[in-house]
Amino acid sequence: MKISDRLKTIGDMVDANSSVIDVGCDHAWLDIYLINKNIGITAIASDVALGPLEHAKKNIASFQMDSMIRVKQGNGLDPLEEDTDTIIISGMGGKTMVGIFKNNLPKLAQIKTILLSPNSDVQLIRTFLSKNSFYLTMEELVLDHGIIYSILKFQKGYKKYQKLELYFGPILLQKRSPLFYQYYGKELKRKEITLQLLPSKYIRKRWKLKKEIKMLQGILK
Ligand SMILES: C[S@@+](CC[C@H](N)C(=O)[O-])C[C@H]1O[C@@H](n2cnc3c(N)ncnc32)[C@H](O)[C@@H]1O
Repeated sequence: MKISDRLKTIGDMVDANSSVIDVGCDHAWLDIYLINKNIGITAIASDVALGPLEHAKKNIASFQMDSMIRVKQGNGLDPLEEDTDTIIISGMGGKTMVGIFKNNLPKLAQIKTILLSPNSDVQLIRTFLSKNSFYLTMEELVLDHGIIYSILKFQKGYKKYQKLELYFGPILLQKRSPLFYQYYGKELKRKEITLQLLPSKYIRKRWKLKKEIKMLQGILK
């Protein structure tokens, strides 16, 4: 089957024999890909909205996987089951993801692995999960249809990170791939434009932006 490079990269980071919940599954292509790999994965495809779930059910049925993927409607981690050990969330903003975890902190006790591909605010996720007993074991940047996506794999455990590592990603910082320079180069341009457009009365916001710009320039030079 053909799925996007972004979803394939996430799928290939899932450990064999995991019990997965895909929160915000939409079309459920990722869950179909995981079951198709035949490496002992069980999956719940969940979404808060009914429209995407109908779409998911149709796709799952077309691969005759109705008995292998449980489709559940629910907000965030509500549909998580007792045996779930892996959470996947992709295609939402970082703030939304952190909100989902904050609302369900006790449920993280049973979780071994969290795979995320946020559309924004990646540093918020690194900061939040590293304060809540997870550490980064993999980080990838993937170019898919002209957009660079970041994909993070956390596992249960503790590791202390420096500020720069939380911002840029400890593993990405070490690798410093060409995509890393493209990704953060774009981020730098976005921040510079925002600073230019921000009226001088926003003193604190401007000060914060200048600090980030300096940090980005320092890493990219
Ligand atoms: C942009 S789609 C991403 C689909 C897929 N995960 C992917 O990466 O291609 C976001 C999906 O998340 C769902 N969603 C948004 N907030 C949610 C929440 N709090 N709980 C569950 N699903 C949510 C939306 O209904 C939508 O189907």
